[in-house]
Amino acid sequence: MTGKGDGTRVVHAGLPAPVPGQPFLPGPVLAAPYHLDPVDGPAENGYGRPDNPTRRALEAAIGELEGGTVRAFASGQAAITALLLSVLRSGDTVAVPSDGYFTVRAFAEGALRDLGVKTVLVPTAGPYPSFEGVRLVLLETPANPGLDVCDVRAVSAAAHAAGALVAVDNTTATPLGQRPLELGADLVVASGTKALTGHSDVLLGYVATQDEALIERVTTWRAQTGGIPGGFDCWLAHRSLATLDLRLARQSANAAAVAELLSGRADVTGLRWPGLASDASYEVARSQMRRIPGIVSFDLGSAERVARFLTTSELVFAATSFGGLHTTADRRAQWGDDTPPGFVRLSCGIEDTADVIADLTAALDGA
Ligand SMILES: Cc1ncc(COP(=O)(O)O)c(C=O)c1O
Repeated sequence: MTGKGDGTRVVHAGLPAPVPGQPFLPGPVLAAPYHLDPVDGPAENGYGRPDNPTRRALEAAIGELEGGTVRAFASGQAAITALLLSVLRSGDTVAVPSDGYFTVRAFAEGALRDLGVKTVLVPTAGPYPSFEGVRLVLLETPANPGLDVCDVRAVSAAAHAAGALVAVDNTTATPLGQRPLELGADLVVASGTKALTGHSDVLLGYVATQDEALIERVTTWRAQTGGIPGGFDCWLAHRSLATLDLRLARQSANAAAVAELLSGRADVTGLRWPGLASDASYEVARSQMRRIPGIVSFDLGSAERVARFLTTSELVFAATSFGGLHTTADRRAQWGDDTPPGFVRLSCGIEDTADVIADLTAALDGA
C-alpha cells in the first residue's frame, strides 16, 4: 500500500490476500498449543507464547504504518520495559523524559536503578544534555500530559553522534501522526491502548524497529518473559485499526475547536495544544508531525473546579487514558503527576464538534 493515503493504508494494513470464501480479516486464533506434525515436530505455529497468527497479522499491520518490524505486547508498559530491559545493562545510563508518562519514570528510577542502570531525566522541550556515556535516549513526543514536543531529527542526530540509541514513545501521535523511524529514531515504543485501537476495550503495546539485531533481542525477551497480548485482543486491535484515520481526523478537528474555545476564556489558563499557532510546540510539531492528536491540556485552577466541570458536563467522562471514541478528562494530579491541582488532560472523542463545544461551554460556565 505504499503511495496510498492514510485511510486506504489503515483499512488494508496486515490483511491477507483475498481468498474466495474467506473473511477479509481472519477471526481470532485462540490457541495455547497447536497440533504438531508427529514426525517433523513444530512448523510455523507450535505454542501460543511465541506463535500466534492473529498477533502476527496485527504486527504486520502496525509494521506497515510505522515502517519497521513490530512485536506486540500485552500493554504499553510491557513493550517499554521489554525494550529497556533487553537493551540496558548494569553500568549503562538511560535518558528518560522528566515530563513523560510517570510509570516509565518510576520504573527507571526503581527497578532499573536496582539493576545498576543510571537514569538522567530530561524535559521534552529541552535543553538536552550531552549524550556522552548514554546508552539509550527515550523520547516521548508529544509528551503526556504536558504536550511539549521535541525535535526527533535533531535529538537523534546528537544521540547517534555520541553512540546512543534513540527510542520514541509514539503513543500520543500514533504512526499516522508521526513516523519516528523516518525521522531518525532507532526504535518506536507505544501503548496501543490509546488512539491506535481507540475503543477503550483493549490494552496493547508494541516495539518497532528496522534493526534486525534489536528486534531479535526484543523477540527473545518476549518469548522468555511472556508479556504477550491474547489472540482476541490482537483481533480487536486489528479490527479497530481500520478506522484510525477517520477517528484521528474527528478527534483532531474537535481538539482544534476546543482549543479555540478555551483560548477565548479568561477562566482557563495554561492551555496547550500543539496545533495552536501560539503554542510553544507548534513549530516543531509542524515540522515533523503529519497530524496533531486530539488531546488538549489546561488548568481550571483547583481540584474542586475540575470536579464541578466534570459533574456539570453531560458528555465528558471522567476517566484516565486517552485517544478513545469518547471525550474524557483526567485531573492528572490525582495520579501523582507533577501537575497543578486543577490541571486537566482532555481527550477529544469523535462526538459531533458542535455538541462537544456546547457541552464544554455549559460545563465551564457551570463550574
Ligand atoms: C505515553 C504513554 N506511554 C506508555 C503508556 C503505558 O501504556 P499502557 O497503559 O498500555 O501500559 C501510557 C499510558 O498512559 C502513555 O500515556
